[in-house]
Amino acid sequence: MDAIELLTQRTSCGMLEAPAPTAKQLELMFQAASRAPDHGLLRPYRFLTIQGSALDRLGQLYLNASLVKNPDIEEAQQNRLLNMPLRAPMIVVAIAVIQQHPKVPEIEQVMTAACAAQAVVQAAYAQGVGAMWRSGDLMFDANVQKGLGLNDNEEIVGFIYLGQPMRDRQAPEMDQSLYVAEWTGE
Ligand SMILES: Cc1cc2nc3c(=O)[nH]c(=O)nc-3n(C[C@H](O)[C@H](O)[C@H](O)COP(=O)(O)O)c2cc1C
Repeated sequence: MDAIELLTQRTSCGMLEAPAPTAKQLELMFQAASRAPDHGLLRPYRFLTIQGSALDRLGQLYLNASLVKNPDIEEAQQNRLLNMPLRAPMIVVAIAVIQQHPKVPEIEQVMTAACAAQAVVQAAYAQGVGAMWRSGDLMFDANVQKGLGLNDNEEIVGFIYLGQPMRDRQAPEMDQSLYVAEWTGE
């Protein structure tokens, strides 16, 4: 795929079915992640891949964590939590790994991790793999973070759902004058 076409036409896809990306496709996605701009070359990110029965266990982790906060969750909401990770055959959890650094503050490291996550999304699209970056309250839940094995210096920047796209979407046109302006200093 032409690079400019990828950069200007990429769309997310929330409706994803099996198969999950192949090992080769994933390798290219993580190679793309490693080219995220990175002040100090700290590589302040890591990824977890989750598929198969581990997606069910992630749903259980969501439910358990939510029950800690509210033991009275209704059955319909319990089922929604259990099924949440089953919206794709694979989820990649993008994690920022924050180091103390004299020149690179935390926010820059999180931005690098987010750029790495976007590179995964773009490399998925370039290979015909559907992707959807999702977040939500559970991303910030201490029990979810613990269950996924995060350390104290780590935070989740996104859950990237991956699979075969079930439909095509056109990238919307956007009027650049709404978000681009020239500053002349006059
Ligand atoms: C940090 C971050 C978190 C996001 N979380 C969600 C989410 O939880 N649910 C959702 O529907 N879209 C979420 N999105 C937006 C989608 O990934 C996607 O960009 C949006 O649906 C627009 O589609 P497009 O990428 O094709 O323009 C998130 C995006 C970012 C960058």
